[in-house]
Amino acid sequence: MNILLTGGAGYIGSHTAVVLAQAGHRVVLYDNYSNSKPTVVQRLQNILGEPLKAIEGDVRDTELLTSVLKEEQIDAVIHFAGLKAVGESSQKPIAYYSANVQGAISLLQAMERAQIYRIVFSSSACVYGDPQYLPIDEAHPTVPTNPYGRNKLQIEQLLQDVAQSDVGKQARWQIANLRYFNPVGAHVSGLIGEDPQGIPNNLMPFVAQVAVGKLPQLQVFGNDYPTPDGTGVRDYIHVMDLAQGHLAALDYLNEHYGFNTFNLGTGQGYSVLQMVHAFERASGNTIAYQIQGRRAGDIASCYAKADKALQELHWHTERNLEDMCASAWKWQTYCNSLGAN
Ligand code: NAD
Ligand code: WQD
Repeated sequence: MNILLTGGAGYIGSHTAVVLAQAGHRVVLYDNYSNSKPTVVQRLQNILGEPLKAIEGDVRDTELLTSVLKEEQIDAVIHFAGLKAVGESSQKPIAYYSANVQGAISLLQAMERAQIYRIVFSSSACVYGDPQYLPIDEAHPTVPTNPYGRNKLQIEQLLQDVAQSDVGKQARWQIANLRYFNPVGAHVSGLIGEDPQGIPNNLMPFVAQVAVGKLPQLQVFGNDYPTPDGTGVRDYIHVMDLAQGHLAALDYLNEHYGFNTFNLGTGQGYSVLQMVHAFERASGNTIAYQIQGRRAGDIASCYAKADKALQELHWHTERNLEDMCASAWKWQTYCNSLGAN
């Protein structure tokens, strides 16, 4: 298939590009490079050993998207593009609604014009809000607690309505809605990975930068949660496992119509301190940390029930915590050698 990856130069998109290309698909990246760099394309080509088409554009440019979809004879779209920093979304809600919600509307308009009806959407566990029970299954209530999470939920509702518009007619829309938990790690080559701008908000890139000596110490946000060691527990998923989940979702859509939601997580939670100690083992370096008060808006524990993806997508995670830390460390040391990141 010919597959367009909006936001394909970003963290998850670039890893998914590798998996799809290696599975025999033709991948086209579409990105405005607002949170990535064009240099990732060369590194992807080095991994793949073949040329890769990348187009610079904004998802809100409906005209450009429509012509790309037609000219590249796209069969399916994976929609990664958007803004993703939870805290920033409260500071810049208009930018977030524009890139995320307006961006999704624009993409769907372009797809309808080009008569392409197959889409995989990057949603987030953020749509669930504070867990009402654990593990979180797909039927868990959706009560997002910040603008970013509300953007994701609104796009999900838009996609649901789009699928619903087919009812009573010949079905056209094939939609996979993937709710990611906490993606971490990098490709085994160490040539691509998460490349946050400025000081990282998320735990893993922060820990990696402490391990490499770029940041002095980690602030651990709270050790008084009702968890085994008092620090927050999350469902960290290796980005290559997540990428494989997109391939599984595309295969699923070969035979399924309508709106289909799947959690993509491991089902296993790890605490902040477990992550720190695993990273110390992977890097061979001590990670200095200091216990701070809780971060506003944080929850004690969050992890997925991932059974639906196993049963229906025939997908499950294959990489463990050591793989996550070892690959993230390889990527961090590569970045450091370039003087980047
Ligand atoms: P990322 O920022 O690395 O990648 C997103 C890419 O989209 C970037 O390359 C950026 O330049 C591009 N982009 C942003 N706005 C654009 C626009 N208007 N037009 C075209 N391109 C645009 O983020 P990521 O971690 O790879 O996340 C990919 C998707 O997965 C996002 O939709 C994100 O909300 C979602 N997601 C991420 C996580 C996570 O923790 N990383 C968790 C759940 C869901
Ligand atoms: C993980 C744990 C922190 C940083 C966010 C979004 C979510 C998804 C993934 C997009 C928590 C602790 C962190 C630090 C720390 N993104 N921590 N010190 O908050 O689970 O999820 O990213 O969709 O929607 O909300 O991830 O990596 O920020 O935090 O102690 O410097 O690490 O308190 O327990 P989070 P995170």
